[in-house]
This record gives sequence, C-alpha cells and structure tokens, in this order.
Amino acid sequence: MKPVTTATLQEMKRKGEKIACLTAYDYSFASLLDRAGIDLIMIGDSLGMVIQGHDSTLPVSVADIVYHTRCVARGVQRALLVADLPFMSYQRSPEQALDNAGRLMRRGGAHVVKLEGGEPMATTVRFLAERGVPVCAHIGLTPQSVHQLGGYRVQGRDAASAERLRHDARALADAGASLLLMEAVPAELARDITAALAIPTIGIGAGVDCDAQILVLHDMLGVYPRGSPKFSRNFMDGAGSIDQAVRNYVAAVKARAFPGPEHSFHGA
Ligand code: KIV
Repeated sequence: MKPVTTATLQEMKRKGEKIACLTAYDYSFASLLDRAGIDLIMIGDSLGMVIQGHDSTLPVSVADIVYHTRCVARGVQRALLVADLPFMSYQRSPEQALDNAGRLMRRGGAHVVKLEGGEPMATTVRFLAERGVPVCAHIGLTPQSVHQLGGYRVQGRDAASAERLRHDARALADAGASLLLMEAVPAELARDITAALAIPTIGIGAGVDCDAQILVLHDMLGVYPRGSPKFSRNFMDGAGSIDQAVRNYVAAVKARAFPGPEHSFHGA
C-alpha cells in the first residue's frame, strides 16, 4: 500500500480527484479510517473538546497533541498525518513554531503540521517550509481565536472580509504552505480560492468545490454530546456500523455528494 504524501494530494488536485479527510485521536479509530480509504487523518486540537470535554481548543498542549499523534500513527499505514500546533505553541516566533513542529514530527510521527492564521503567519510558514516542515495553513473560522472572533461564526461573508481571506490564502501559499484549510466560509469564496491556488485546499463548512473535505470524527458519528455544526452530517444514520459510516463518507466526498447545499454557507 503506497503511503499518501503531500505530492499525492497535489497530483489528486491536478486530476480533479477529491480527497477524503477526517480527524482521529487514537489507534483503533485511526486504523479503521485508514482501512476505509481516508486519505488524510488530522490530529486536531478539536481533541480538547471531543476527547477532553473542554468548551474550546485553547487548553490543549503540545504534549497532548504529541501523545494522540503517536497513538494515531501506530494505526496508520497509508493516510497522511497532519497534527495541530495548539494555541500559543507557535504564535510567539518562527523559532517557537519550529521547536514545537519538531516535537510533533519527531515524537509524534506527524508528516505535516497545521497552524491557524492568515497573512501575519506567512513569515512563520516560510520559516518552517524552508527548513523541511510541511505546513497546512488554516484560515476562515480559526477556533483558537474564538474569543477575538466573538464566537464560532462564518467568516468572509462581506466583501471586505472575503477580500482579506483571498489575500491571506495567496500570502500563505506564496510562503510555501503545502495545504490550505478553510473553515466556515462561503462556498463561492472557497471555490474561487481553490481555483486560484496550486496547493490543495481542505474545506470544512466551505462548500463542495474545495479539493478535500474534512469533518471532526465525533461530529460525523453523531457522538459529541453538545451537538454538531450545520456543516456536518451524521453518517451513522442508516449505516449500521462505524466502518460503513466512514466508507459512506469517503464515497460521498469522492462523488461530490457531500457537502450538500444544506451544509454550505453563502455570502451576504
Ligand atoms: O482541530 C480540528 O480538528 C480542526 C478541524 C478543522 C478539522 O482543525
């Protein structure tokens, strides 16, 4: 089985083949996802909410992400592993980001690290990329900034903020990001950014035209007790098993049947 690399994802984008991604945090689920054909597994700081029960991702530490990445890595033979740099583990300086990215890759076994933020993070993305650390940049709704954003809100709905996101996407790609994740942004904006960039885009609440789709595992299995966002779908409905739910998700993403219009947002 050939492992998925950032070059594989790039080639899939070129061919117009959709990329199926999910989060996972442990060995058993990671192994199930890998066997079901998930191309990219993200060890997201969403673990602070769905695993640890916090009401935001802010309390998550680098040690938490390293621990869960190591558990996931043991279960995976094919999927690309993307691990989150948690809140305040990269914002201080590019050097701080490099130290913590090194921890996620050397101790955890991550292949790519993810960080949140737009153009102001471009210097850090460049610093990492030039030193051999592949980066997934995350724009739009950035949950680590929830208190600054004033809640978990759709971003880029008016002309000025849409333009800012276009500018952020371009700056991060030019700085050497390997992947761009867009969360909770209008579908038309995500479509335009995806078409404008050579790197693969990953959407969550960003419409069907992103190169890849991702959901938080606990949302798509319908097990998170505080409920799921509008952009998610409960794939356990009618599936009969977790394995079948994940296989249905992969098939729906590859066929562009997920997300549907009911899971997407639009501009003002
Ligand atoms: O932390 C996380 O799980 C994420 C999601 C957008 C997938 O960043």
